[in-house]
Amino acid sequence: MLDSSESLKISSMERLWNTSFAHQIKQGAYNTAPVEAIVRSVAHHFRAKEFTKEDCRKLKFLEVGCGAGANLGWLAEQGVRISGIDISQEALSLCHKVLKHKGLAKNIDILTHGSASDIACPDEHFDGIIESCVFQHLPSDLRVKAFSEVVRLLKPGGLFIGHMLNRKHTTYKKQVDKMNQKEPGTLFLNRENIKEKINLEDIGLTHFFTKSEYKKLLKGCSIINPCESVYELPKVEANRRGYDHYKHAMWIVYAVK
Ligand SMILES: C[S@@+](CC[C@H](N)C(=O)[O-])C[C@H]1O[C@@H](n2cnc3c(N)ncnc32)[C@H](O)[C@@H]1O
Repeated sequence: MLDSSESLKISSMERLWNTSFAHQIKQGAYNTAPVEAIVRSVAHHFRAKEFTKEDCRKLKFLEVGCGAGANLGWLAEQGVRISGIDISQEALSLCHKVLKHKGLAKNIDILTHGSASDIACPDEHFDGIIESCVFQHLPSDLRVKAFSEVVRLLKPGGLFIGHMLNRKHTTYKKQVDKMNQKEPGTLFLNRENIKEKINLEDIGLTHFFTKSEYKKLLKGCSIINPCESVYELPKVEANRRGYDHYKHAMWIVYAVK
């Protein structure tokens, strides 16, 4: 159950992401490509388990913050039964349209509006849960709840892949003096206080994780292996963002309940 301050935060996130998706749809600029870190990690897991296409058809996966559905589309192409939850109704409508257009709507189990912090599904319902660039935008109370929802919803042996910001990221390093003192690792990004005007614009709260946070947040998982993905943007792109060098640094968290 959410208290009134949590409900307020959720309404404000909903407005922010609806505005963002309305803009992305207008520009035709939403994400259409499955996230490489998610594809690579899930594919590795399927290979390690020696899952056949037939085995994949029995799997149920949830994407928390599914956006335009690029990751769900890839999972559906593997035969997996897919579910998605998103705070933005704009994103969900787009996601449904995209999956239908690709002929993948038949793989959908649940596509629902709601918050990562409070997911209306029974315990141990999913074989896998993925999230990419969602938990990093939740305030700390909702972030804790979102991770505990992951643990609650996974079957024993179920897989979680998380893809989230790392403190080696150039934005973190350059903006660390503007960090909220009460919330370590958290920046509030908007047009006034960020230098780059490209991909971290106007998305409000942004949390940069440390490795030790996962063990705490994923209590109940037996394996937790965060790995790092750091790449330096081409100089021309770094310059466009107002930097000489720009490192895009993420965690890829692999966890098994
Ligand atoms: C950066 S986008 C990533 C979308 C998608 N995961 C991808 O990789 O293409 C973040 C997504 O998280 C959703 N989101 C933000 N806060 C959320 C929350 N509290 N609960 C569920 N979804 C949320 C947004 O609406 C948006 O679709």
